[in-house]
Amino acid sequence: ALDVSPAASVETSAIAAPAVRTPTRRRYLMCPPRYFTVEYSINPWMDPSQPVSADRALEQWTALKTTYESLGHQVEVIEPAPGLPDMVFAANSGTVVDGRVLGARFRAEQRADEAEHFRQWFLAHGYRDVVMPTRINEAEGDFAWTGRLLLAGTGFRTDAGAHAEAQEVLGVPVVSLQLVDPRYYHLDTALAVLDDRPEQGLVVYYPEAFSTGSQQVLRWLFPDAVLATAEDAACLGLNGVSDGRNVILPTEATALGERLALRGFQPVYVDISELRKSGGGPKCCTMELRG
Ligand code: ARG
Repeated sequence: ALDVSPAASVETSAIAAPAVRTPTRRRYLMCPPRYFTVEYSINPWMDPSQPVSADRALEQWTALKTTYESLGHQVEVIEPAPGLPDMVFAANSGTVVDGRVLGARFRAEQRADEAEHFRQWFLAHGYRDVVMPTRINEAEGDFAWTGRLLLAGTGFRTDAGAHAEAQEVLGVPVVSLQLVDPRYYHLDTALAVLDDRPEQGLVVYYPEAFSTGSQQVLRWLFPDAVLATAEDAACLGLNGVSDGRNVILPTEATALGERLALRGFQPVYVDISELRKSGGGPKCCTMELRG
């Protein structure tokens, strides 16, 4: 039972979790991995000599989609294109804040054509404000909206110059963060937004994936952040998706899930083992359509 004596509540008030966190209904865009393969290597997770199963990837993706729907979220689906095996990682193809869209421009030539498929999807679905970037930007792979700020990663994929471009196009303040560990090549492999209400802005991150200066920035902005361990990061546990209450995590990320539960979140586990062979997890498969 909870000790609710005044002394105890004062002592723990700085980290006390609200009794119940409130989810908000989300709208996501996902792309089924019908043509999923690992036939090139553009991050340390990808080993083209390792067998992968598109059927298993599709099963895992379908379970992820069903999980969102059972939590009351709306999932839009974009048709995959043959020859674009990484198109399942929809988060990399657009950043949508308040109905404005900044498209993607991929670093790897193998992924370049994905951006146009998503641009077409936005145009066909009523988005009027769609801007394609001039600088390399892998969208929500490196951009994380906290409700108040756009955190922006650089170091492996997205150009630092794309951060200023995102600020101009989306009209929101951007904070640049330097990634330093090649296993955590995208911001969304090192940090996840748990609560994106403007007054809250709670994140979880793995400090060692960031430069010293960026670690200081994160401590400054989020003194109450949940800190992840090397083990949490190694199963792509930071590639989670939160609706403000439920946090979708890879099945292996139970230690992280328990820490999030102490802060009032509900971990929801999904098997993404096949997709991880390409360096992706739940978040990579999920673009959030905001506004
Ligand atoms: N194979 C893909 C790549 O290396 C994986 C992308 C994962 N997406 C993400 N948001 N981290 O580009």
